[in-house]
Amino acid sequence: MKLKVAIASDHGGYALKEFLKDTLDLKWIDIGTNSETQSVDYPDYGIALAAEVSAGNADFGIAICGTGIGISMACNRNNQVRAALCTDVTMARLTREHNDANILCLGARITGTETALDIVKTFLETEFEGGRHIDRIAKLEV
Ligand code: RB5
Repeated sequence: MKLKVAIASDHGGYALKEFLKDTLDLKWIDIGTNSETQSVDYPDYGIALAAEVSAGNADFGIAICGTGIGISMACNRNNQVRAALCTDVTMARLTREHNDANILCLGARITGTETALDIVKTFLETEFEGGRHIDRIAKLEV
């Protein structure tokens, strides 16, 4: 069964969003944006993506802006999601194992497309370890 993945970006992340959708055979829910040239505000897309994931409409979310920083801040305003900005595969693995991150954030101006692809694959394939991490992530829901 294919994973259902909601994906959103601002204009700075649009090209990487389209690359990931074209490359990975997943059930995508595209929240936008739909243009590289029309400037939009990353909070609108991060907040909309977090709502989609917290509503249970997707297994995971992917959020992309220029640095990945602004959109990760926006996602994490929703206390039902754990959005993690990752710049390498080790971060992607550990944020799934330890934080049970349900949104992966990427910086399109920071991370190249092939590295981003490896990060996404690792994030989606890695299971949460549970155990001692369960109480820790519960403390994030304030
Ligand atoms: C947009 O120019 C840029 O500020 C945005 O993509 C992101 O990097 C913000 O954190």
